Amino acid sequence: MTHIANAPIDGLIDTLFAPLTLGAMVLPNRIIMPALTRMRASAEGVPQAISAAYYGQRASAGLIVTEATAISVQGRGYPQMPGIYSAEQIAGWRNVTAAVHARGGRIALQIVHHGRWSHSRYNPDGSLPVAPSAIAAPGMIYAPDFTQVAFETPRALDRAELPELVETFRRAARNAIAAGFDAVEIHGANGFLLDQFLQDGSNQRTDAYGGSIENRARLLLEVVDGIASDIGPGRTAVRLSPHGNLGGLIDSAPRPHFACVIEALSRRKLAWLHLIEPRASSAGIADDASIDSANNAGLFRHLFDGPVITAGGYQAESGAAAVSSGLADAVAFGRMFIANPDLPDRIRTGAPLNTFDRATAYGGGAQGYTDYPALAASGAL
Ligand SMILES: Cc1cc2nc3c(=O)[nH]c(=O)nc-3n(C[C@H](O)[C@H](O)[C@H](O)COP(=O)(O)O)c2cc1C
Repeated sequence: MTHIANAPIDGLIDTLFAPLTLGAMVLPNRIIMPALTRMRASAEGVPQAISAAYYGQRASAGLIVTEATAISVQGRGYPQMPGIYSAEQIAGWRNVTAAVHARGGRIALQIVHHGRWSHSRYNPDGSLPVAPSAIAAPGMIYAPDFTQVAFETPRALDRAELPELVETFRRAARNAIAAGFDAVEIHGANGFLLDQFLQDGSNQRTDAYGGSIENRARLLLEVVDGIASDIGPGRTAVRLSPHGNLGGLIDSAPRPHFACVIEALSRRKLAWLHLIEPRASSAGIADDASIDSANNAGLFRHLFDGPVITAGGYQAESGAAAVSSGLADAVAFGRMFIANPDLPDRIRTGAPLNTFDRATAYGGGAQGYTDYPALAASGAL
């Protein structure tokens, strides 16, 4: 990303500072920090004190959504990614939520099962990753020691295992509330297990969880309904990436298929729907935006009866324009929030932005994590 100053445009930028109700929360602004994997938990997936500092620094966001967090040992697929299935992990997250709340912020936990985007080296018993069907993702994955290894062909989940999988998602959401989170965002995007079920290139099941889009959406909707009944629909949200191809996912007809999924979610009165634009679907692995004409907010916003967050390659002006034109209710800024702990202040005042450093995105310590300067510290104000 280049170093771009946001010249304030009278009125337009102000739209990002109108309060917004998201389920049980009232946000003071519409500038969202989306989920950003940073791989700095302990090897056991316990968030460390430095993560409480990192998230606390960013508490002026309208809402923080945490990095994707594993619902189980089997659900992991990145080195040093956090989890929400052990008492130590819950205690670690409690420090994070306390740090954000102490600074007046709001924070949701993004929960994930990686599915085939994993490796047998993540499983203590060496068992294969699981997926809707025994179809390998193309390419390479980080092993637990940060080396790159080829994806394996996963084991197709048995139908009898799915109720336990839904229960594991539900337990993770209850653990999140116990850890002090304000809400839970279910990761249905970016090529992980629930997305693998949604898209027909990775789901070739012949039971009630494969075939038609109604069947392929069944697992996601069971997870959503279970979590909403446990913690309330006003604290339950979903992230989707229609037209995204991360993890080698592909769908034969994304537009009608995701329309069907979003209409089903709409009936559930959730806290929010978070849509990633395909132009930035690879933002976690590369800086160049993929050129794709699909505009998810434009295609799907009207199908969802509730707040929509849009993400993907936004600058302050284009984000404010998305809100003022009704394309979305709030805007996520991913790489900009990594590099700018006080992003809302910078957007409001038109101050220059720190530049995102990709080399320090994944793994490591304070460098590129808690040492991006705030305005006062950099002397810019
Ligand atoms: C380093 C990095 C890690 C990411 N990790 C996640 C993640 O854990 N979960 C998720 O849903 N999206 C993840 N994303 C995608 C971002 O949430 C966001 O959708 C993407 O960066 C596009 O927004 P941007 O152009 O404002 O950066 C990640 C992106 C980056 C750059």
